[in-house]
Amino acid sequence: MNPLDADDPLARFRDLFVQSPDVTAYLDGNSLGRPLKASVTRVAGFLEEQWGGRLIRGWDEGWLEQGERIGDDLGRVCLGAAPGQVSIGDSTTVLLYKLVRAAVAARPGRTELVIDRDNFPTDRYLLEGIAAECGLTLRWIEPGDVTIDRIPLSEATAVVVLSHVAYRSGYLADMAGITAAVHEAGALVVWDLCHSAGVVPTSLDDWGVDLAVGCTYKYLNGGPGSPAFAYVRGDLQSQLRQPIQGWLGSAAPFEMAQGYEPAQGIRGFLSGTPPVVGMLAMRDMIALLDEVGLPAVRQKSVALTSHAIDLVDELLPGVQLSTPRDAALRGSHITIDHPAFAAMMPTLWSRGVIPDFRRPTGIRLGLSPLSTSFAEVELGVRAIVELL
Ligand SMILES: Cc1ncc(COP(=O)(O)O)c(C=O)c1O
Repeated sequence: MNPLDADDPLARFRDLFVQSPDVTAYLDGNSLGRPLKASVTRVAGFLEEQWGGRLIRGWDEGWLEQGERIGDDLGRVCLGAAPGQVSIGDSTTVLLYKLVRAAVAARPGRTELVIDRDNFPTDRYLLEGIAAECGLTLRWIEPGDVTIDRIPLSEATAVVVLSHVAYRSGYLADMAGITAAVHEAGALVVWDLCHSAGVVPTSLDDWGVDLAVGCTYKYLNGGPGSPAFAYVRGDLQSQLRQPIQGWLGSAAPFEMAQGYEPAQGIRGFLSGTPPVVGMLAMRDMIALLDEVGLPAVRQKSVALTSHAIDLVDELLPGVQLSTPRDAALRGSHITIDHPAFAAMMPTLWSRGVIPDFRRPTGIRLGLSPLSTSFAEVELGVRAIVELL
């Protein structure tokens, strides 16, 4: 056994995940987390007993409120958010659109949106669309780590959109400091937590964060296409109005009345029927994270990424590390770049070594602390060494 695994107090949790016999090193938990065995039981049980047994009655027996219940748990265990501020539903893309549009409307007269060129495509594309739709100017932060001094803030800034952990480099932004700076400029900030939710602790309430979104299929192991979450700070909820005015975000959906009146609270940020089946698996991961505690998860995440960097330094001298060396400045994945990487991906995958690839030359090693071993990291890096 790898000595680091032998010393790892969290190693025993790996057995709780479904294993895939043909995979020797799964290094893509930051794209799609492995399922927990408990989720297999939960989903099958739901189909039999809940959907099959309760049929339409299930909506009155808890399905309708499930997103808010899970949102409260997620807020407590992972986000640092008090109850009533997190909902689950829609994709990250759709939730981001809803929240950015709501934030823009709350800053009338301000003419600029800010985002970085290194942000995930959906975030950039949405902002391009919203700028065009609302007649605003998009101010870009040029490629590189997003530090406070690089954010073009002014009296014209309406909304800033940033990722907590950058999807490519893994850079971990100073959420508290940046949020305070954006507020000083009188603007609102929307954080994308896709690459930090469930692995990097946050204190959204204490840091005064306005709005945030994130997906649940990465470190929250909700499964392919599981719905995203939105955080709307309590005191902002009555000031913001989201643009997709569906019946389930209305004050009295079953009145079926004329004229949309938004529901009070976080429910006003919903639109249509919640994806109940898609929300099931994340409950098991949130419960496991609750048991283990996010600080311990973060500690192992740092140990895994540090180990990966040490191996790259030792075994891959010609390869560029595109992730910060300072553990305090990175999330739970590292990216390494080399021109030969694109060609070797099919062979790696066929050997059961599964990282992912980010154009033009990056291999991204995503390390999901409760399901990834130190031995897997080593096996993955050694496979890359061999092919190079
Ligand atoms: C940082 C980030 N933002 C947004 C998204 C888009 O999420 P979705 O496809 O669920 O809308 C992703 C997807 O991987 C992402 O990594």
